[in-house]
Amino acid sequence: MSTTTTEAPSTGLTVSIAPPKGRMLLDGSPTNYGDFRDALNSDGYAVVKGAIPLERAKTYANEFYTYLEGFDLGYKRDDPSTVKRANLPVINEKGMILAYGVTHEKWVWDVRSEPGVIDAFAKVYDDEDLIVSFDVVNMQFANREDMPENKPWPHQDQDPSKPGFRCLQGLVNLNPAGPDDGGLIVCPGGHKLSEQFHAEMADEPRIPAWTPEWFGYTENGMKWLADHGLEWVKVCCEPGDLIVWDSRTPHYNLPPAGKQDRLAIYTCYMPVAEASQEDLVRKKGAFEQRLGTTHWPNAVHVAGSNIAMRNGEPCPKSRDRPVQEPVLNERAFKLTGIPYIKTEA
Ligand SMILES: [Fe+2]
Repeated sequence: MSTTTTEAPSTGLTVSIAPPKGRMLLDGSPTNYGDFRDALNSDGYAVVKGAIPLERAKTYANEFYTYLEGFDLGYKRDDPSTVKRANLPVINEKGMILAYGVTHEKWVWDVRSEPGVIDAFAKVYDDEDLIVSFDVVNMQFANREDMPENKPWPHQDQDPSKPGFRCLQGLVNLNPAGPDDGGLIVCPGGHKLSEQFHAEMADEPRIPAWTPEWFGYTENGMKWLADHGLEWVKVCCEPGDLIVWDSRTPHYNLPPAGKQDRLAIYTCYMPVAEASQEDLVRKKGAFEQRLGTTHWPNAVHVAGSNIAMRNGEPCPKSRDRPVQEPVLNERAFKLTGIPYIKTEA
């Protein structure tokens, strides 16, 4: 293992740290990886620039719009007046498309299979044998007049009773995302204070959640973060950039305030070694039925169906399978976890 040395220009101090072996600890201690991992360690999030080459990112964005138009409900990307709920598949207030098998569309799998995206996670975990979540896609229109209001929901995606770094989340950004363009907002450094927060705020009433792996910040919780010097930062990035964040880092998303739609695909990977055989079998079922999961790659939660509900009724455009079935290369197929399932003798 090589040792890298950098000279800090302001002090002339030479810091020499051998890159740690194995999975990142994300404990905020000094690191010297010389790449995005240093920011990830200190801030709890990082932008991996150009994880997908720009031209391919543009192609994926184009496919995203084509997919939305393909529902034949009236939406046309070049006509802002068509951005209406009735003209689109069901998209929730946070911009997420949860049904229709969208998570297994070919273009979504193509994004998940991008080497620059997988490699980022492989570096963090120091492990090439990874599985990926079948998480959702996100579309937040610049013209949101007829779209549901997106209220802030600052949260962590990790059970407070299970501290320490457990999960690295990610999203691939497909449209320019400047300060006004909507997208992820994070509380840098929040991962390091997470355990202290939960110890000191143990008596604070919990915001109801459908899973213990989600924790929402109350007004008092937000005040605690501010009192401990934490500030919220909108993450700006370009098409093809990958944002990664520790699940303990407080975050949520902002709707666009400018003229640019927000397009993102959530991509979360973890070592297959951290999944049980039971997890992998459940995950296989989700893949074969083209169902979605949350961000947990070990398929902690699997969607019950691909039916979208529209005004209390199943959307007539609901479908069980993707429009375009995924085409997986060998590395991508490993991400389903299926090749790691041990067959009984
Ligand atoms: Fe989240």
